[in-house]
Amino acid sequence: MGGSQTTFIMIKPDGVQRGLVDEIIGRFEGIGLRMLGRRDLTPPLELAETHYAVHKERPFYPDLIEFITSGPVVAMAWNGEDAIASSRKLIGATNWEDADPGTIRADFARSIDQNIIHGSDGEETAAFELGLWFPGGLGD
Ligand code: RTP
Ligand code: MG
Repeated sequence: MGGSQTTFIMIKPDGVQRGLVDEIIGRFEGIGLRMLGRRDLTPPLELAETHYAVHKERPFYPDLIEFITSGPVVAMAWNGEDAIASSRKLIGATNWEDADPGTIRADFARSIDQNIIHGSDGEETAAFELGLWFPGGLGD
C-alpha cells in the first residue's frame, strides 16, 4: 500500500444518466488525484463480461451485465498517492445503506444493483482493469 498508484474508476450508466459526472470528477480532484485517461462509451457485452468475470457464478451477475451494458459509462484512470484505497473510501460500501456519510454511494445511490460508480479493489485488479479498458495505454 501507499506510494503513487493508478486506479480504474467507472461511472456506471445510472451515474451518467442522472447527471452526476461533473460532481463525481470534482470529488476525485478534491482528494488530490489526477485524471490520466477518460473514455465515454457504452460497454460492449464482451468487455463487461471480462470486467466482471470474478462474479460470473453469483446470482446477481446477469442483472449486473445487463445494467452495465445498458448505456454510456465514463471509464477513467486516476493517479496519486494511495489512489486505490483512497478511491474506494471516497466511493463507499457496495450497499449504500452501509456506506459512510459523505461517500458517493451514501450521497447518491439508493440501490445495491445501481450504485453509481466502480473502483478497482486492489493493485492486481487495477492493473487488469486499466489494461482492459485502456488497451492502447494511457499516453505519456
Ligand atoms: P464494483 O466492483 O462495482 O466497484 O463494486 P464493489 O467492489 O463495491 O462490489 P462487488 O462485490 O465487486 O460487486 C460488483 C457489483 O455487483 C453488484 N452487486 N449486487 N445484489 C447483490 O447482492 C449485489 N452484490 C453486488 C453491485 O452493483 C456491485 O457494485
Ligand atoms: Mg468490485
